[in-house]
Amino acid sequence: MAEQRAGWKSRTGFVVAAAGSAVGLGNIWRFPYVAGENGGAAFILIYLAIIFTVGFSVLLAEQAIGRAAHRSPAGAFRVLKGGLWPIVGYIGVLTAFFILPFYSVVGGWTFAYVWKTVVGASVDSAAFGGFIADGWATVGYHALFIGVTALIVLGGVQGGIERYARILMPALLVILVILVIRAVTLPGAEKGIAFYITPDFSKLTLDSIHAALSQAFFSISVGMGVMITYGSYIAKTEKLAGDATWVVGLDTGVALLSGLAIMPAVFAFGMDPGQGPGLTFVTLPAVFAQMPGGYVFGVLFFVMLSLAAMTSAMSLLEVVVAHVTDEFNCGRKPMVILFGGIMFLLGIPAALSFGAGKEFLIFGKTVFDLMEFISTGILLPVGAIGISLFVGWAFWPKAGEELGGEHGDAPSWAPVWRWMCGIVAPLLILWILIAAL
Ligand code: PHE
Repeated sequence: MAEQRAGWKSRTGFVVAAAGSAVGLGNIWRFPYVAGENGGAAFILIYLAIIFTVGFSVLLAEQAIGRAAHRSPAGAFRVLKGGLWPIVGYIGVLTAFFILPFYSVVGGWTFAYVWKTVVGASVDSAAFGGFIADGWATVGYHALFIGVTALIVLGGVQGGIERYARILMPALLVILVILVIRAVTLPGAEKGIAFYITPDFSKLTLDSIHAALSQAFFSISVGMGVMITYGSYIAKTEKLAGDATWVVGLDTGVALLSGLAIMPAVFAFGMDPGQGPGLTFVTLPAVFAQMPGGYVFGVLFFVMLSLAAMTSAMSLLEVVVAHVTDEFNCGRKPMVILFGGIMFLLGIPAALSFGAGKEFLIFGKTVFDLMEFISTGILLPVGAIGISLFVGWAFWPKAGEELGGEHGDAPSWAPVWRWMCGIVAPLLILWILIAAL
């Protein structure tokens, strides 16, 4: 098989695409409601601590593995070391089957909200509850979301993602900042701001630490090989740590701004911060209704949220497609269609979890909650343990040299990263997993 590996078009190609994968529903939809369920500020502090230590290290680890091997995850572990290591890659592929279906369901909700805000349909909390309980609508929008995602992946990832993520990201940031300004100046916003910035450590439980860990990996797209796959397209001249800093910084910035747009509104309108997955969809329309030009901002916001969700969904589908095309030498196009279809089918029970399938519980959770829990709560952390152990031991000292790029000199701080990957991250993740489960 001829080794024909595409590369990013420009130096910032990886940052743009990786940030496109990282910034998505996880930041704007999931972060605020998980923070709300787990007591606010104290949770956020733990989250930030995890992101900037363990999260950053694992991201860098994935980039180094990807660039060194120039392959999708399972193959990357095989060419770099072999043995049982490719299992870590397979776990990553498996993880995509648990994330993409429920992710696409929520992606479908955002598509629906584009339409609803355009036509000016009612988007209050009762309307949202009615909408997600309507199986035909949610399955239909889920089909649309996964269909459009597959179409873009079909056309090739690089040009597409790289080109429009470059415009999308800055625009999203601008709208978020405007939303934050409106939200924090709402009458009664103080309580929400306090909830968001005053930590109450008595609220912090092992479960909320586990939630912070899961959210951290989910948000920066690490633990399943997305960044190995994207990293495999990085030029040898690029300094990996600088790229990782950008990705983590952008992702965290968007998450924090989203929370700051949502929490004040929750309190100003007397809503409950712990209300779960509907939080963003219920609070933000209420904020839009309170601002001049709210119609335009509402439409723009949901359009951008849909696009941000799609750049993340593409990366999830890409991991599976890159895996089967690399491993089994299959054509790319039929695989995109096949796995897009499988993800659609798997998403149907998740889409029905808020209506017809509400009573269908496995281990006390709906299919949607179960998929979310298995993937973010278990598989991503387990994958992250494998990836960091690999870099700290099996792939050391080559991993350090990979950071130095072409000249192969490991930077002076490489040993710190090694201990992070080899010892701190695996033990910490393992402890949180065992203690919480
Ligand atoms: N990081 C994405 C988000 O925040 C979700 C995602 C997780 C994408 C894992 C790829 C891999 O929306």
